[in-house]
Amino acid sequence: MDGMATSGTVLITGTSSGIGLAAAVAAARAGWTVVASMRDPARSGPLLAAAGAAGVAGRVHVERLDVTDAAGVEAAIARTVGAHGGLDAVVNNAGAGTVGTIEVDGMTAVRNTMEVNYFGVVEVTRAALPHLRAARGRLITVTSVGGVVGQPFNEAYCAAKFAVEGFMEALAPVAASVGVRVSVVEPGAVASEFVASQRLDIPKLVEAAGPYGPALRAYIDRTRKAFGNAQRAEDAAAPIIDALQHPDPPFRIQTSEWAHEFAATKLADLDGSAVQAMTAQWVSAG
Ligand SMILES: NC(=O)c1ccc[n+]([C@@H]2O[C@H](COP(=O)([O-])OP(=O)(O)OC[C@H]3O[C@@H](n4cnc5c(N)ncnc54)[C@H](OP(=O)(O)O)[C@@H]3O)[C@@H](O)[C@H]2O)c1
Repeated sequence: MDGMATSGTVLITGTSSGIGLAAAVAAARAGWTVVASMRDPARSGPLLAAAGAAGVAGRVHVERLDVTDAAGVEAAIARTVGAHGGLDAVVNNAGAGTVGTIEVDGMTAVRNTMEVNYFGVVEVTRAALPHLRAARGRLITVTSVGGVVGQPFNEAYCAAKFAVEGFMEALAPVAASVGVRVSVVEPGAVASEFVASQRLDIPKLVEAAGPYGPALRAYIDRTRKAFGNAQRAEDAAAPIIDALQHPDPPFRIQTSEWAHEFAATKLADLDGSAVQAMTAQWVSAG
């Protein structure tokens, strides 16, 4: 499929909600056979309802896959290839946020965040590559503007997304040498289960933050406003489908004009002063 706008079999991780769910339905609508993976298939109701409403339920196949379970990843990809005769594309979408700071939260929070957002992506990529190479296929990874701009109280999450961006930027020319196109997709705030899934108890978090409490309070107030203008999951998913289909997709794709401008600020900020001035404002109580 290299160089052609076509369809085939795509495996998407984290399709129980949000961007992954929207991408699964949109890919099926575009003619792809979609292996819609999720760590708990009992949570497939909303996806199957959306696929049914779109008239594409027959092209959406739910598969169990927890990205932190290496043996499970290998098995899910083997089942996919066995059932569909190959694998033409993977969308690494599964991810989870975390709000906090290292002195308060300690190493376990950082390691857990890396497991899902970074090592999970690497594991799926490693297992999929032989099949993507055979298909001359596509590898698309949902990172974040948080993979470009380090944001306050997102140290672990941004570190994981930066790591994914570095991994994919380094892999892209190597994969291209064997016919596999690699892209990263960078959303800004998206209306999904992303915030709710973190089950944040804000007053408790602020109290536990001790000396960082006022900065955290300011950050949370600012973030609430940002999520008031969040992009719809369907709109964040549309560029993923474009990257699947486009004959020559770019490496780095932002999902909104806002995300484009935000990433541009960082990518032109050689000494870091523009980003520091901006993010210092986010944690300023004044
Ligand atoms: N929402 C935003 O503002 C935003 C902004 C930038 C980037 N992103 C990125 O976009 C991607 C999708 O997030 P979303 O906004 O659609 O949030 P979401 O609605 O919370 O969806 C996240 C998905 O990842 C799944 N997941 C979590 N841990 C997993 C694991 N260990 N194995 C497999 N699946 C797992 C969740 O499954 P369960 O239902 O089982 O928990 C869920 O299906 C993530 O990579 C996120 O970092 C989101």
